[in-house]
Amino acid sequence: MRLPVIAGNWKMHKTMEEARALTRAIKDGAGGATHCTVVLAPPFTSLAAVCGETKGSSIQLAAQNVHWEPKGAFTGEISIAMLEDAGCSMVIIGHSERRQYFGETDETVNRRVKAVLNSSLKAIVCIGETLAEREAGRVHDLITQQLAGGLAGLTHQSLSHIILAYEPVWAIGTGRTASPEIAQEVHKAIRDWLSRQFGTEAAQEVRILYGGSVKPDNVSVLMRQPDIDGALVGGACLEAESFLRIIHY
Ligand code: PGA
Repeated sequence: MRLPVIAGNWKMHKTMEEARALTRAIKDGAGGATHCTVVLAPPFTSLAAVCGETKGSSIQLAAQNVHWEPKGAFTGEISIAMLEDAGCSMVIIGHSERRQYFGETDETVNRRVKAVLNSSLKAIVCIGETLAEREAGRVHDLITQQLAGGLAGLTHQSLSHIILAYEPVWAIGTGRTASPEIAQEVHKAIRDWLSRQFGTEAAQEVRILYGGSVKPDNVSVLMRQPDIDGALVGGACLEAESFLRIIHY
């Protein structure tokens, strides 16, 4: 039984005051939700503010990135202990925008993932192909490569720290969501790969989220697919009204 996860990736949006207001509205509308885990991923500067507002609710807090070193001379980076201190229970790793604009690779994803295994955090590890890769028929190769690279060295026990997010790059922020059939096909391929690597039992427990233009009007049909265990939502999570409709799919 995989409890669905509905996560809002705020990206580079919201000041602290805006973050508090949005969190209060989400808590009012879904603070007691038990049919899914609600996750908010604000920018680093608003983590503590959002944490303050979520107290007494089941809403979980996630960061959008983390460094693998525990401390040191790494200007601009944030450690796992800092995220735990700010109230996080999760962290997004390897989002396609990090890969595309900030040099994230499967190898650096793997370093971050391995660091998270020794902490109280869960990693939401993002994978997904570009349009060119899809049109070249490379989806399965690419997904396999990202999984093998990003999860290298993990054991079936460590999978309990991992949530995966399949986010086709061509669907992110474009309004062009993957059809439920396309998404399900890739989610199943991901779970089959996990089964081969870690055994069926461990693979059955991993939540695989879909991301890429998830909206209130397409979330339910996506959530009906057997291997889609939740959503990683960008644009539609920035307003309480649309994010609450997604939470209550
Ligand atoms: P989107 O973003 O919902 O705006 O497409 C999803 C994501 O990047 O996680």
